Amino acid sequence: MAKIKILRSASDKSISHRAIMLSAISKKRVVVKNFLFAEDTLNTIKALLKLGVDIKTKGLDVIVSPAGKYGLKESDDIINMGNSGTGMRLLSGILSGFNFLSVLSGDESLRSRPMMRIAEPLSRMGAEILYRKGGLAPLAIKGKNSLNGIYHKQNIASAQVKSSILLAGLYSDEDVSIEEPAKSRNHTENMLKFLGVDVKESENLVSLGKAREPFGDCKIDVPADISSSAFFIIYAALKGKFELVLKDVGLNKTRIGILDILSRCSVNYEVMNRTVKNNEPFGDLLVKSTSSLKPFVIDKKNLPSLIDEIPILSVLAAYCDGVSVVKDASELRKKESDRISAICENLNRVGVKTEEFEDGFKIYGNKNIRIKPATIKTYKDHRIAMSFAILSALADVNLDIDETQSIKTSYPGFFEHLDYMLS
Ligand code: S3P
Repeated sequence: MAKIKILRSASDKSISHRAIMLSAISKKRVVVKNFLFAEDTLNTIKALLKLGVDIKTKGLDVIVSPAGKYGLKESDDIINMGNSGTGMRLLSGILSGFNFLSVLSGDESLRSRPMMRIAEPLSRMGAEILYRKGGLAPLAIKGKNSLNGIYHKQNIASAQVKSSILLAGLYSDEDVSIEEPAKSRNHTENMLKFLGVDVKESENLVSLGKAREPFGDCKIDVPADISSSAFFIIYAALKGKFELVLKDVGLNKTRIGILDILSRCSVNYEVMNRTVKNNEPFGDLLVKSTSSLKPFVIDKKNLPSLIDEIPILSVLAAYCDGVSVVKDASELRKKESDRISAICENLNRVGVKTEEFEDGFKIYGNKNIRIKPATIKTYKDHRIAMSFAILSALADVNLDIDETQSIKTSYPGFFEHLDYMLS
């Protein structure tokens, strides 16, 4: 019998951010179970504390005694969202409903990421938003208790933009709808519904109904993050030394594009113990190894469902026999780093051939590829750092990763979990 290892990876970052933000403006207390205690989500807790919310932690739980829908207080200082685009964009939506000044800033990476995509619709809804040249943070927001309605058609699928508008929409009595070219993750919609808000969802259109006050008085259980689990899914599949059970993984259908890629690459896996908690599907994943690895294509159809997994899928592609292609993905240049260039540069450094284009890249993979020792430049991007740490372990080659501090933003226990894989 194959050896089996069992792991629960870090909790879901997207759901953790939303759980505490939505609880903060609910009517009644919410207990968030298995919250992700990582830098990004801790910055969201700190932001909410500054805005007058009572938040306590107890073990792995966070207990939010809400300020209520209209109860946030003006912060007496700038609010620092660190590295988190989700934190900044979603909180901006909520703060657009408050008639006081909020200034949101963040680290160098966050201050270089595009904020016009939220500033424009939130301004149309009636909030006053100031930003630096080019639509960059810091953002200064002066909101209103009663915002205008909006029909916002997005050119690119973005859950952060959609969520920001939905949260601002709680402070409007008018029609609020967002249309997307492809469906992005719908955790905000699921959680709003769970908290009693009326949200209507069809394939590419989301609208708010009449009930717009989150109630609370509940528990929200956060699953393990499929984006964090992905590092060890790929490690186990490629290493082939053991079977890996990943416990309690969030299996929201807007997030599981990686599973289709595994099928395409003939990686054997099974989903077990499916269940649903707080409107989110959970399950355990059993990952087995594979012998034949086919290359794959990522394009606008599957991109939103695996957007954060592209760095680790690029490691997988290096071991697939043939050319894997990522296209229609210029959004990757606007993540925590320019991921298109960071992936290509670092794969080239270790001896994997790539071809970079404006909106994607090709990876020339090979099952017997030889990875060369090299220095890896992460550009302080957690997912680049973790992907190349996995490649180093897979290839048994020393890769000198220039920093690993960034990993704390989403997965503080990453190296402990990697050690367990190696044990
Ligand atoms: C996120 C949405 C995605 C994703 C990010 C988290 C979220 O970004 O890349 O890591 O929690 O809503 P976009 O909304 O920019 O696509």
